[in-house]
Amino acid sequence: MTSPISTQRHGDILIVTSNNPPVNALGAAVRQGLVAAIEQAESDERVKAVVIACAGQTFFAGADITEFGKPPVMPWLPEVVDRIEACTKPVVAAIHGTALGGGLEVALACHYRVALPSAKLGVPEVKLGLLPGAGGTQRLPRVAGVQKALEMVISGTPIGAKEACDIGLVDRLCEGDLVQHTVAYAEEVRDIRLLPKSSERDDKLAEARANPGLFDEFRKANARKLKGFEAPEANIKAIEAAVAKPYAEGVKDERRLFMELMSGTQAKAQQYFFFAERKAAKIDNISEDTRPRDIRKVGIIGAGTMGGGISMNFLSAGIPVTIVEMAQDALDRGTGVMRKNYEATAAKGRMTADQVQGAMGILNPTLDFAQLADCDLIIEAVFEQMEIKKDIFGRLDKIAKPGAILASNTSYLNIDEIAASTSRPQDVVGLHFFSPANVMKLLEVVRGAETAPDVLVTAMQLAKRIRKVAVVAGVCHGFIGNRMLMPRQVEATKLLLEGATPEQIDRVHVAFGMPMGPFQMADLAGVDIGWHRDKNRVENVRDALCAIDRWGQKKGAGFYDYDDKRRPSPSPIVDQIVREFAASSGVERRNISDEEIVERTLYTMVNEGAEILEEGMAQRASDIDVVWVYGYGWPVYRGGPMFWADTEGLLKIVDGLKRQQERMGSDFSFSQLLLDKAERRGKFTG
Ligand code: 3HC
Repeated sequence: MTSPISTQRHGDILIVTSNNPPVNALGAAVRQGLVAAIEQAESDERVKAVVIACAGQTFFAGADITEFGKPPVMPWLPEVVDRIEACTKPVVAAIHGTALGGGLEVALACHYRVALPSAKLGVPEVKLGLLPGAGGTQRLPRVAGVQKALEMVISGTPIGAKEACDIGLVDRLCEGDLVQHTVAYAEEVRDIRLLPKSSERDDKLAEARANPGLFDEFRKANARKLKGFEAPEANIKAIEAAVAKPYAEGVKDERRLFMELMSGTQAKAQQYFFFAERKAAKIDNISEDTRPRDIRKVGIIGAGTMGGGISMNFLSAGIPVTIVEMAQDALDRGTGVMRKNYEATAAKGRMTADQVQGAMGILNPTLDFAQLADCDLIIEAVFEQMEIKKDIFGRLDKIAKPGAILASNTSYLNIDEIAASTSRPQDVVGLHFFSPANVMKLLEVVRGAETAPDVLVTAMQLAKRIRKVAVVAGVCHGFIGNRMLMPRQVEATKLLLEGATPEQIDRVHVAFGMPMGPFQMADLAGVDIGWHRDKNRVENVRDALCAIDRWGQKKGAGFYDYDDKRRPSPSPIVDQIVREFAASSGVERRNISDEEIVERTLYTMVNEGAEILEEGMAQRASDIDVVWVYGYGWPVYRGGPMFWADTEGLLKIVDGLKRQQERMGSDFSFSQLLLDKAERRGKFTG
């Protein structure tokens, strides 16, 4: 087998090139090749300096994640970076694309770093439940400063080469031929023998020692973001060690912390999720050579919260949008909200005024439906009612150009029924965005019975263009996400009557790691969503709340009371209503344990997920997990409901559900797939 590492001498510079597509991950062969190349440079007297560069789209994007969990193959990355740093001849990194994780650690071990301005440098290990484990937590603060290193390891977000240059992480920026410029740089430094080693620097650590409160301040400032995650604290501890201890001791701490994380469930969950997210983009049973349709212009029907949010995704990606409303004031209101949202982003420094202008400049608001005629994709985002949707699709059928994709943003309704109101069901697809649509990353792509393969491929590619993570779902009530929400809601509501409080149920969900519980979510979204609007028809707790205008946060009252700062407190009125309903329906009140809440709300979701898989409404269990992490804030350190069920053990899930089966009554039935897998000690994922 040929090595992914090749060397070539250019005068007295040895150019070491890695060619390991797609992202030059630092797999075993790359690591072996790098060490061999450094040995070659040491032993060849003609070589005065070394350049390490990568072919293809990027500099090393990190360790090879597919090797994690397998028996280690020597040399380890920490040994490789130490060997590079110990080279007696100057080693210069030539950075393009993304120098990430182990890739940045290689660059940090080089004595000098040259980069293209478009390059990005970062340590995303925290997103995999890890920390930079090849000296990164020790070298980065020495080179970039402790505060910056903390920000980088905790966010995992890469910084641009320009910023990296400003803080001393990159020594020179260059335009044009990167390798040529780096070779020129290497020639400048080839005679230096007292080489700058990142591991030996102390100046920036000394600054941090002068500010001993720095770490606790950082912890405090980030506490909310980091809640529940194990890796961030380990990252902070490793950098603390860099400041407090000599390098040789610090790396030992780093190694220990790295190994602890690596053997934990969170890292497994987050690494699983990394691949789950990428797998979601792949569509089963579609030929690889299916070409997407060309999408240059998008039409949106409805300028409400959803229509406006959806439009912003395309505008931000530079795709012109025609947005249609029925009345001028609704159109003005909708476009006004979009502009305000953009301006708020600009005020936070995340967009320039020109970009705001650019986005709004390619928006065409109109009352004229016929203006959708030249759009390549038209997304309907109107009121959730089948008759209205059918009417719209019937009209679209008459005006849309041939080959245009007709999409509905419905969150529950039957796409096949909508498609049947057109003469071109093959062009119809569901594109279910999550609210707020300009923020939430998830997109459910609903595959109708007749949706054409190229329509699906287009939807998946377009999702990437507008920075969404798309998951293919089949046609069923609520698709993947909302369908799994239903059993949770049913049981949560019954638990209220049986004696639990909204606070208790929500607390259990938040302690689990969800951003909010079912009742907090109801209050935020609006208790009145889907309500029949007849104040005299009070059949359940929700009807009773709606009838007295407790519609949630927007009315200052819902399942909770809210003060003028929207801070919730338990509501005696709700308690009273719940008790009355329990009494009138003959439900006996008792103490409810937190465990029962988990079993009846979370285990039932797993059961529903299994049902969805069994029916083929999701392509794979990991897709369900992607939906829940990106659509509903399921804690990524638990991987998603299906991965979590696997880590809990399916037998335990089944036992818990059996314990609750009687209480759940006819609302619940077992998924055969779950039962079968549990019996065979099987798993949904992996
Ligand atoms: N190891 C193995 N495979 C990787 C990989 C890695 N580090 N990074 C990406 N890949 C694979 C992806 O799974 C994908 O495979 P597929 O085509 O079969 O689905 C393929 O490479 C392309 O990846 P993307 O679809 O993500 O391509 P993009 O161009 O959108 O993004 C990227 C490129 C920004 C490099 C992105 O892939 C990425 O963020 N990768 C992960 C980087 C990372 O986390 N590095 C740290 C690793 S941990 C580490 O280094 C530990 C060390 O400290 C000891």
